[in-house]
Amino acid sequence: MSFRIQPAPPARPNRCQLFGPGSRPAIFEKMATSAADVINLDLEDSVAPSDKDSARTNIVAALGDIDWGRKTMSVRINGLDTPYWYRDVIELLESGAERLDQIMIPKVGCAADIYAVDALVTAVEAASGREKRIGFEVIIESAAGIAHVEEIAAASPRMQAMSLGAADFAASMGMATTGIGGTQENYYMIREGQKYWGDPWHWAQTAIVAACRTHGVLPVDGPFGDFSDEDGFRAQARRSATLGMVGKWAIHPKQVALANEVFTPSDAAVAEAREILAAMEEAKAKGEGATVYKGRLVDIASIKQAEGIVRQAEMIAAG
Ligand code: COA
Ligand code: MG
Repeated sequence: MSFRIQPAPPARPNRCQLFGPGSRPAIFEKMATSAADVINLDLEDSVAPSDKDSARTNIVAALGDIDWGRKTMSVRINGLDTPYWYRDVIELLESGAERLDQIMIPKVGCAADIYAVDALVTAVEAASGREKRIGFEVIIESAAGIAHVEEIAAASPRMQAMSLGAADFAASMGMATTGIGGTQENYYMIREGQKYWGDPWHWAQTAIVAACRTHGVLPVDGPFGDFSDEDGFRAQARRSATLGMVGKWAIHPKQVALANEVFTPSDAAVAEAREILAAMEEAKAKGEGATVYKGRLVDIASIKQAEGIVRQAEMIAAG
């Protein structure tokens, strides 16, 4: 291990982030009773320019009036290239909506974007006497965002989570697709006449996970647009979980149970992790650093893998 210890990310379940437009208050109660761990009320791209003001008003009212239980409450503000974002921050924070936990900053391109929002948030927090310190989550959804992903993860102690936003990312990269995440028809290899599809999101996800894990931030997979394709969502979510991501967005209530299913370690996985820990305890008692479990090598690294699964399961059970 490096002399610099890897910081722990925020200890909270983040299996599913359910989105809803701030301009559609009729769904807020339904979002509150959903099984999502995180709620993202949107002021950005699901809200038309003519509705930005009323969406802010709706969100401020809903944060105060609705019982959101133990969910993490986040509002997606507008991008720093728009005339809206500063009013988003000021109105949300000056409103006294203490229930707000995080703001989500879209389309971040560099650490200075976070610095700018941090400066404004810090000033409004101090001036308005807010008690709870606002956390930040960001979306990596541009070429600049992925090029500067590590400095963004490190940009502020407020940083809590980072998501990959596939649609804007694809547009910014000039990728030849209009889908939002998932399998891309033309991304395949041929062997002996057969097509084998690859995962064009893999490298960006891995870069996000590495940046997040280095700086104690939760890595999250973003939207999967085709909410009628449950198998496609599951496959995308399973790949993300395998790479180290802790959760995924839901852009339709149907997707919440799917995300929770994939990002909750199964009973079998938790039982196996506990058995590996027991096998390693036995090995340690014999003065050995490695042993055999079900015909395969386990060693001191396996302890960390198994502990990660058990910790995740315990946190979700407590959550
Ligand atoms: N959260 C909670 N409930 C929702 C919901 C959401 N995001 N979206 C829809 N619902 C409710 C509907 O009100 C409806 O409830 P009912 O059965 O009581 O009438 C039910 O779920 C089924 O909705 P459905 O008719 O299938 O969808 P829709 O056409 O009303 O809405 C979307 C579909 C995609 C427009 C809508 O889900 C949505 O706005 N999603 C979020 C978009 C967003 O925030 N994007 C930004 C991030 S990418
Ligand atoms: Mg976007």
